[in-house]
Amino acid sequence: MYGVTRVMGIDGGYRGFYSKNTIPLTPKVVNDIHKRGGTILGSSRGGHVTKKIVDSIQDRGINQVYIIGGDGTQKGASVLFEEITRRGLNVAVVGIPKTIDNDIPVIDKSFGFDSAVEEAQRAINAAHVEATSFENGIGVVKLMGRNSGFIAMYASLASRDVDCCLIPESDYYLEGRGGVFEYIEQRLKENGHMVIVVAEGAGQDDEQVDVGLWISKKIKEHFSKEKKMMINLKYIDPTYMIRAIASNASDNVYCTLLAQSAVHGAMAGYTGFTVGPVNNTHAYIPFDRITEKQNKVDITDMMWAQLLSSTNQPSFLSTTRSADIIEANKDEEPPTQLSDEETNPC
Ligand code: F6P
Repeated sequence: MYGVTRVMGIDGGYRGFYSKNTIPLTPKVVNDIHKRGGTILGSSRGGHVTKKIVDSIQDRGINQVYIIGGDGTQKGASVLFEEITRRGLNVAVVGIPKTIDNDIPVIDKSFGFDSAVEEAQRAINAAHVEATSFENGIGVVKLMGRNSGFIAMYASLASRDVDCCLIPESDYYLEGRGGVFEYIEQRLKENGHMVIVVAEGAGQDDEQVDVGLWISKKIKEHFSKEKKMMINLKYIDPTYMIRAIASNASDNVYCTLLAQSAVHGAMAGYTGFTVGPVNNTHAYIPFDRITEKQNKVDITDMMWAQLLSSTNQPSFLSTTRSADIIEANKDEEPPTQLSDEETNPC
């Protein structure tokens, strides 16, 4: 439509700018790629040397750069935009939000998120089938999300088989009153089985351990050693299977709209923006709004409240707090008359 004759793909993320080879992106080459998982361009982490990348853009005579990726990739795009502006180059820089983690702020969702949530259902379903087939069956499923629990939260809400969902944004503890172990015991007594979904970064500070393996081990130890209660725990780790699938129909439509909006934006002369829907309207969002924070599950928001009411799990934090408050107030005499503030609210 715009009469563009040459579109090239950079192979292997930001590092790919330093290599000579590029991938020609003709209509024939890209014809079927939406039906496949992964990326024909290759991917990598890090390797962002701003000066070298902008030199490469200049040397190759590129005048529009479309950068596809998650939170870190968008930050990289923003730095390139600053350097391009500093050099006064006539090059548009556009970010396209693609990550299963949905951790890019401002926009309604990122490309890939819907497909990941859909695929996560299969793992949760398997965990549920296994858990219901054994006495005191527990299915533990680990889902991706190092810093944000969107996949875990949405997959749990969609499946409705999940009894406990643990995400990085909401602290939890295992032992003692109001803890995860107490809740597991209660669910097993009530229901005979349960499913736990744990997001990769849940309960992790700096130390990176495999949280799924860790929590499974802790649960087994607790019930065999401390409670002398027989449980059957099955641990499922479908992480890369969820990321590696081809996108679903809703993501394919979304991606088409992202691509078209991105090109129209650059062709209209805009630069330094990430494209994406905001309250269902496709918008051009300046990089500094995208990079100022990471999108995280807001645990004071309606969605997390709905998750808690769907799983029936306690909000592990508030249970302790309210228990402590009840404990602390136990011996206090109840007030017999209204205070001045209560009778004269201002
Ligand atoms: O960036 C998306 C993501 O799904 C993160 O949640 C996760 O930590 C990461 O990918 C894992 O990917 P890799 O093992 O390739 O670094």
